Amino acid sequence: MPITSAHAAALYDRVRSVIPPIEWPAFTDDIDAILDLKRRRNAVILAHNYQTPEIFHCVADIVGDSLALARKAMAVEADVIVLAGVHFMAETAKLLNPQKTVLIPDLRAGCSLADSITAEDIRLLRQRYPGVPVVTYVNTSAEVKAESDICCTSGNAKAVVESLGVPQVIMLPDEYLAENIAAQTDVQIIAWKGHCEVHERFTPADIRQLREDHPGVTVLAHPECPPEVVAEADFSGSTAAMSDYVGSKKPSRVVLMTECSMSDNVALAHPEIEFIRPCNLCPHMKRITLANIRIALEENQHVVTIAPEIAQRARLAVERMLAI
Ligand code: 13P
Ligand code: SF4
Repeated sequence: MPITSAHAAALYDRVRSVIPPIEWPAFTDDIDAILDLKRRRNAVILAHNYQTPEIFHCVADIVGDSLALARKAMAVEADVIVLAGVHFMAETAKLLNPQKTVLIPDLRAGCSLADSITAEDIRLLRQRYPGVPVVTYVNTSAEVKAESDICCTSGNAKAVVESLGVPQVIMLPDEYLAENIAAQTDVQIIAWKGHCEVHERFTPADIRQLREDHPGVTVLAHPECPPEVVAEADFSGSTAAMSDYVGSKKPSRVVLMTECSMSDNVALAHPEIEFIRPCNLCPHMKRITLANIRIALEENQHVVTIAPEIAQRARLAVERMLAI
């Protein structure tokens, strides 16, 4: 059943301030097909805050940060989940929905943090620090999660670390997230040297320049940014926390030191706020397009599978996090 022109116009209203009219016709055919395929296949699309506006605002059913996507994945009743995000997010959705079909539209949608550590690295760390619990960022493979005691996201990392009631934890793989959390807690944190290729590129000099060029600007930084960047920002939090900050504090001018689509998606909800836009693109998030979401649903690709013995242990680490 094709979308009506009234429906297409309503969808365009959601994104008109970030998608020029000349570009919109290039999206409508895929949007039409995806909405139809979702109905026919009883599918839902989970989209991360870094997905482009035509995905985030026009075809996604559930949107949010990594924590929200994991929580909401638990309650999905559809037969098929398409993860518009990166591979570790699709694996997390599969861990929480072992009976459902979980699709990732492009297998190359990886993550520099997930690539920075292996299951063998964790086994070696455990030998080096016997008895110290391992807190693993969700931006990791299922194999790495399976070697971990508990997972965390940028939205709950401090609460997870403190929930263990121990003086020392290993927190991996993001060195900067670990350092940013260490600055907020008495728990001693042993870090790993992984970095997000998007957030590691922001510098304190960027922030100083922004404040000079845009007087009064409020600077929000993701905790995957280096600690010296977070120290110069006005607020640091997960993508959902940054979005909530904008919604509740309503700064007149704001800059989000994070992935580019985030500003587009948040700006659409707050036309009265001026968004300053230096940002960095995540090449992995940008692998996902309307065209490959459509193909994923048409051809049932790429199906996410996790070996049962890995899935069982990885699921425990994710479930322990969600129980906090
Ligand atoms: P959050 O949405 O959990 O803040 O994560 C950011 C990120 O970089 C995900 O890849
Ligand atoms: Fe990974 Fe960074 Fe891209 Fe998120 S933004 S998927 S942490 S590389």
